[in-house]
Amino acid sequence: MEIKGTGHFVPEKILDNHYFASILDTSDEWITERTGIKERRVCDPDKGEFPSYMAEMAAKRALAAANLEANDIDLILFSITIPDMFFPNTSSVLQARLGMTNQCPCLDISAACSGYLYGLTIANSLIETGTYQNILLIGCEMTSRFNNWEDRNTCILFGDGCGATILGPSTNGPSKMLASQLSSDSSKREALILYAGAAQKPITEEVLKNKEQYVTMDGQQVFKAAVKTLAANCENVLKTAELNHEQIDWFIPHQANLRIIEAVAHRFKFPAEKCIINVQKYANTSSASIPIALDEAIRAGKIQRGQNLLMAAFGAGLTAGAAILKY
Ligand code: COA
Repeated sequence: MEIKGTGHFVPEKILDNHYFASILDTSDEWITERTGIKERRVCDPDKGEFPSYMAEMAAKRALAAANLEANDIDLILFSITIPDMFFPNTSSVLQARLGMTNQCPCLDISAACSGYLYGLTIANSLIETGTYQNILLIGCEMTSRFNNWEDRNTCILFGDGCGATILGPSTNGPSKMLASQLSSDSSKREALILYAGAAQKPITEEVLKNKEQYVTMDGQQVFKAAVKTLAANCENVLKTAELNHEQIDWFIPHQANLRIIEAVAHRFKFPAEKCIINVQKYANTSSASIPIALDEAIRAGKIQRGQNLLMAAFGAGLTAGAAILKY
């Protein structure tokens, strides 16, 4: 499997840390020191900015980079936590937005922040078995819809955005998925959770009063689990790929918190120059974070063909994943 093209989209509207300091008991210093985040992007629903809109923009850029037409896509995999609507799935909405007429299959993936790596692993299997030729993999999140804007513990952490990647059989000799490891530790499923709004707990006045339609999180538990699981999964994929840390050209981690990234990078002795980091600009865009970082680094000319990319993510579930891809 190889990456044929990438693209990303982030909304124009920026909320910086000073904005939160003006509405909550927090400060730019606190947020910067504890998370590395300086600002994040948020959709403007009045302008029609929803997940499928962001995905359309990102997908068009990826199609142009891959030199493909929308109808060349034969499968859409769409990682998303809060979709446009429960159904139809957002991948089908995207198919329509892209003007596709080939009726290709459309599948949404729900694995929170790890969804892109889940999708990458599924895509690899489907491509290596010859089932599909041009898979459009989307990581797209409108986290501003699950944010409780009165909860300083969570709302400062997230941002909206979308990354798109087109994957197909390798035409460039060495391009290959060298290893992948996915996991989910359901014993910690309550550490990061959105209780209400679905089958178990529909929206009622009581739910709205208790703000259960928004994300709740045990930040310290998630932090510790993230560092441990990311490190273990990276270790495993390095072993499977029979590579040592020096043979990794770029580390592209899920952009949740700079301290988490630094802890994992330190564990593997990755120098700062090898780490792709944009959490300061976009905060945690959930499953969009890795494909956005990947696209930015490719477009900046940092990532070159033949290089080894290590990607690692974690999120609600607690799902996690790591993969090594020769670009
Ligand atoms: N501004 C100011 N103070 C804040 C704050 C904010 N935005 N958010 C929390 N605090 C307060 C807490 O209320 C707490 O106060 P208390 O001691 O009076 O109760 C204090 O800061 C320390 O909280 P603590 O939880 O120890 O901070 P921390 O160093 O663990 O940082 C997180 C908090 C959320 C930044 C950190 O735990 C984290 O990043 N966790 C992982 C979250 C994550 O990545 N989630 C997404 C996974 S995909």
